[in-house]
Amino acid sequence: MADRIFDKSQALYVRALETVPLASQTFSKSAMQYVGGASPLFLDRGDGCRVTDVDGNEYIDYVLGLLPVVLGYRDPDVDAAIRAQLDKGISFSLATELEAELAERLVRLIPCAEMVRFGKNGSDATSAAVRLARAYTGRDRIALAGYHGWHDWYIGTTARHLGVPQAVRDLSSAFTFNDADSLASLLKAAPGEYAAVIMEPAGLDAPAPGFLEAIRALCDEHGVVLVFDEIVTGFRIGMGGAQEAYGVTPDLAAFGKAMGNGMPISAIVGRRDIMAFMDKIFFSGTFGGEALSLAASIATLDKLERDSGPARIAATGVKLRDGAAKILKAHEIDAEYLTKGPDWLPAVLPTGEGRADRTVTTSLLRQELVAEGLLFMATFNLSLAHDDPQVIGETLAAFDRAMARVAAALRSNDPAARLRGAPVEPVFQVRQNTGPIIKPKDAAE
Ligand SMILES: Cc1ncc(COP(=O)(O)O)c(C=O)c1O
Repeated sequence: MADRIFDKSQALYVRALETVPLASQTFSKSAMQYVGGASPLFLDRGDGCRVTDVDGNEYIDYVLGLLPVVLGYRDPDVDAAIRAQLDKGISFSLATELEAELAERLVRLIPCAEMVRFGKNGSDATSAAVRLARAYTGRDRIALAGYHGWHDWYIGTTARHLGVPQAVRDLSSAFTFNDADSLASLLKAAPGEYAAVIMEPAGLDAPAPGFLEAIRALCDEHGVVLVFDEIVTGFRIGMGGAQEAYGVTPDLAAFGKAMGNGMPISAIVGRRDIMAFMDKIFFSGTFGGEALSLAASIATLDKLERDSGPARIAATGVKLRDGAAKILKAHEIDAEYLTKGPDWLPAVLPTGEGRADRTVTTSLLRQELVAEGLLFMATFNLSLAHDDPQVIGETLAAFDRAMARVAAALRSNDPAARLRGAPVEPVFQVRQNTGPIIKPKDAAE
């Protein structure tokens, strides 16, 4: 284990806390996610699949900015496209040709896409879809499954709903992934009131056979707009999203993250007759047509398509998931950690069982992986730059050394004592909503 010093991260953390609440813009990129004092808190630069922190420590990055970096940091083709656009300008007073050009790409690639509008964050696209569905149907209620961003209509359904009015919370209800009956009950309890069903169509769990088809049928039966949130699946599971992979076409879909290899861009795509309501609602902002991100996105999608991006990501994922599973078993810590998830997003998850509680096993895992030069949270977030035998070999060797120490800690009398700082704090279980909040008007008490 190379001795890693985090003095500059610590000093910058103390400085940033004075002026930046949380010392980060994003919960999942904050100090809450890593073992205090034993982890980097600030990065300085990236190249390919590697990043360097402010203390000069290097890592193979399996977080990738929370998934936007799909080709690798400083991808030469994307960066060249950005530079070429930079020579022409960034934000203009009228639309540019880039908007139509990127929209045409998405219409060609994504089954439900007949028309397209752009935003900057995933939350822009999911919230636009919700407003559009409400305008189109003249209804207010939303049923949802998954994580959909920071806006009131979604975050009000989670434990972190402080600041969201009850009147807004009352309109959103969570249903359970892979349980179509849970959606059927919601729709039945408030007939004619649901505008949209918005869901992540796939994630660490694949949709069970027939599940997405059942959701599609329920939406058709009840006149509800079906929205797939493909912010994570988009351009990773395949170029046409989960809707192409599983053969079920929603009415609208939201894309973001990977579409710009790190540049801030998202898209709402969908059926022409519903997208036509875009002219009637208000979804309009200063930066929707910002040209560097549009140019980056065109270059990113071209390269992913040309280089069979999703297939290469999946092949890398299989090697890492299989390798990690063997290592966990060899160190006899497979009661504490399991591997799961699809080929394109393999995960190593604490089981919450075995010799220590989940906070300790999560913290030990991240601490020891960081010590071995792997920046990792729960999933192997992959880019094409990871598709390299050297990187995969280095990763599995580092994983093996880290798991040897995790195993030793778990065999000791007091595994928590092996933590070199404060444990990881969960933000909240984003993919576990608090359940239906509403009591439908006509439901029994
Ligand atoms: C499935 C899904 N939807 C929506 C969002 C929100 O995207 P953003 O954070 O870019 O607003 C995320 C972000 O993690 C996500 O994973």
